[in-house]
Formats: sequence, structure tokens, C-alpha cells
Amino acid sequence: MRIVMIGAGYVGLVSGACLADFGHEVCCVDTDVSKVEALRRGQVPIYEPGLSELVLANQTAGRLSFTTSLEEAARGASAIFIAVGTPSLAEVGSADMRYVYDAARAIAAAIKDFTVVVVKSTVPIGAGDAVERILAETLPRDRFAVASNPEFLREGAAIEDFKQPDRVVVGVEDERARAIMGEIYRPIQRAGSPIVYTSRRSSEMIKYAANVFLAMKVTFINEIADLCEQLGADVLDVSKGIGLDERIGARFLNPGPGFGGSCFPKDTLALTKLAAEARAPIRLVETLVDVNDKRKVAMADKVIRTCGGSVAGKRLAVLGLTYKPKTDDMRDAPSLVIVPRLQEAGAKVVAYDPEGHRMAEPMLPGVEFAESAYACLEGADAAVIITEWDEFRALDLGRVRKALKEPVVVDMRNIYEIDAMKALGFRYVCVGRGLNGQG
Ligand SMILES: NC(=O)c1ccc[n+]([C@@H]2O[C@H](COP(=O)([O-])OP(=O)(O)OC[C@H]3O[C@@H](n4cnc5c(N)ncnc54)[C@H](O)[C@@H]3O)[C@@H](O)[C@H]2O)c1
Repeated sequence: MRIVMIGAGYVGLVSGACLADFGHEVCCVDTDVSKVEALRRGQVPIYEPGLSELVLANQTAGRLSFTTSLEEAARGASAIFIAVGTPSLAEVGSADMRYVYDAARAIAAAIKDFTVVVVKSTVPIGAGDAVERILAETLPRDRFAVASNPEFLREGAAIEDFKQPDRVVVGVEDERARAIMGEIYRPIQRAGSPIVYTSRRSSEMIKYAANVFLAMKVTFINEIADLCEQLGADVLDVSKGIGLDERIGARFLNPGPGFGGSCFPKDTLALTKLAAEARAPIRLVETLVDVNDKRKVAMADKVIRTCGGSVAGKRLAVLGLTYKPKTDDMRDAPSLVIVPRLQEAGAKVVAYDPEGHRMAEPMLPGVEFAESAYACLEGADAAVIITEWDEFRALDLGRVRKALKEPVVVDMRNIYEIDAMKALGFRYVCVGRGLNGQG
């Protein structure tokens, strides 16, 4: 089956490469000329484990190609996926749909035979109808059908998530389109993942509801962690104790500096806007957006408190800047709030991130970048762990102790054993583990 993927970003590139690996013939179209040229040379512009190898293998096998011309790509395609960005509209917070609608207009000008237009981007409920209206301005109604197929992959585990998802959701109301979508995802279904067919609007809603629910779990455990600090309980035991209850589930119960990334912040905000416009405000989600925003600031203040109430003139070694490990994605990373606040308070920040350096540097002016964790820690007044890269878990803590000027570690991800840190003479402050976060 010939498939076009509009947008060769995180989702488009991973989806395109995986669909090609299933044996489909996939062409990724992007308006970013330099990105397309790099991809044609086999250079993958993002860090995602296994992606470079997958792209290269399928390119070499002739199943995956890249172009800037939709007209050329669309020839003979059964389905055209829209996987462009839907960022927050500045000052408003709702999803900015301009890239999706631009793509829809380009599709309207490019297709000649019946084609399924699949909206993979995360879009407000009803966006599929809007895409349909745009296409119908130019095309006869029997030339296309619009389907919704939201993506649930996690950065850092994107290939595995795409190939063995918990489920594939397809919102489709046209029989021909349903048959084509079934054919596209047959390899996944054969491997045991269910395909959930729904109406288009339900499918669009499933994506928002899923993301917001996960964001809510993270925010919930963050608040429980704060309470643990006040009452002398250990949030890791609490997470384990509640997570073993199958009704709750163990995942997304790790406390930290607040959620970030390319999806949760913008999707939670977009849903609150959508709900308010629909006159069915979701107060729970409005609150979690507010709680999460404030948490990042509170985390910087925790560092300042741990450093005796002032970081003016202090050298702080920040380990980890990306919003989570195994990605170089810096979109809405908590570090983008925490680090500038520490700088405003007078700290000199030196940072190290295993993969995020290139993306982070232009976003964090005034930060000195180190080439290794140990170089970052050398001579610092405190270490601050923002992202839990495995490499940091494996640091030689004796060497860390020697490198630091003061043995102070603020660990926003709870990656070390409290007793081991104490035995080494650290002042170890983590999240939700005992009174006032003192490890
Ligand atoms: N990143 C994730 O983990 C993730 C997970 C699930 C869903 N999503 C959703 O998927 C969508 C895409 O996210 P992303 O992270 O891949 O975005 P991205 O910014 O990484 O990629 C978007 C790409 O689309 C290209 N583009 C924009 N307009 C175009 C056009 N008219 N024609 C061709 N190309 C165009 C851009 O140049 C860019 O390369 C968003 O709606 C997002 O919410 C993202």
C-alpha cells in the first residue's frame, strides 16, 4: 500500500519509518527543505533510540522516501496522513490548527483518485469535520474520506510504542476508508494489538482524554509527594502501595518537577479551552494546569532553599535538561523554567545533558555547557538533577562527592538511595521522601 505522511517530525518520521518497516511504501513530505535534504542523506534530525537505523534500513530497501512535493508523493497513494504540529496558540492556549489546515488545502490540490485523509496530529474535537469542509471546497465528495487516527507513542520508546501499541484508535465513518485503515494496520493487529474503531469525534476525544488522564496521574502523585514531605511519609512506598491496585496501575506515578514535553502541557491547556468554549468547563484539568505550572517554579525555590536561602554567586551543576530521558526534545521542559529562575536568583548554571545539548543551548542563554557529568559537577556548590538519564543513576558517587565543592544534591527524580547518599556525606534533598524532602 502506498502511504503519504505529511510532516516528518517526531510523529511523522517514526510512523512513516514503522509503516515502511511493515512493508508499506511510504513517502514523507515536509515543507522544511533542510530537514528533507538531511533525511535523504540518511541523517535523522532528532534523537530517538533505534530511529536512525530504522530509517536507513527502509530507505535502502526502497520503501521509505522523503520529498517536499506533495503532488509527486500523492500519486497513487491510498492514504495521506497529516502529522504536522498543533502547538499552543500564543496567549490563547488552544491548539494552533494552521499547519493542519494548510496541509488539508495542499491535499485538496494534489489528489486525483479516492484517498483517505488521516488526521494523526492531536486536534480539537470537530477538526476532522473542518478538514472535510476544506477538501470539499475543491474535491467531489466521493474522491476522499477523512479519518482520525491519533498517535499515542512516547518519545524515548517511540518505535516500540508504534509497533506494539496498547491499541490503535481509528475514527472513521466511511466503509472504504475503514477497509484501507484496517489494511494499513493489519500487521499491528496480527501481532495482537486491538484496533478500536469509533466515530471521528470520539477518536479525537480519546486522544485528549488519554493525555489529560496521564497528566493528572503525574500531578496527583506530585501533590501527594509534597504532602509526604510535610507528614514524613515516603512517596515511593506510597506509589508502590497504590500502584499495585489494578484499578490505579503503577505507571505515571513517579513524582518529579512537573510534566513537560511536546504533548501534555499543550494538550491539557487546549482541552480546558475547548471545554470552556463548549460550555462544559473541566475544572479538574484547569486546576492541574495551574498546579503543574507552579510546581516548576517551586522546584527552583527548593534548590534555593537547600542552598541556604540564596544562590547568588553560586555555581550550580544541572544534570539533565530534556523533558525526559532518551530524547533530545526540549519542548516545554521543566528545565526551561527552573534554570532561568536560578539564574535570576544570581546562580551561575553549568549544565550537562547526554543528548539535549544542541537543542537546549539556544533556549537557555547564559548557561555554560559541560561535555560530561563529572566536568559539570567540578567545583559546583550543588548538583541539581532535573532529568533521570540512566547515565546519572550509574555515576560513581564517591567521584561526585570529590568533584563538588559542597556535597549538596537536589534530586528532582529520586534516583539515588537515601542511605547511600547519607553514608557518603551528601546533603541529599529529593522529592516526597521524608520530612521537608530531606533524604
Ligand atoms: N511528539 C510526540 O511525542 C507526540 C505524540 C503523540 C502525538 N503527537 C502529536 O502529533 C503532532 C505532530 O507532533 P510532532 O511532535 O511530530 O511535531 P514536530 O514539530 O516534530 O513535526 C511537525 C513537522 O511538520 C512539518 N510541517 C508543518 N506544516 C507542514 C505542511 N503544511 N506540510 C508538510 N510538513 C509540514 C514541520 O516542518 C515539522 O517537520 C502534534 O499534533 C502532536 O501533538 C506528538
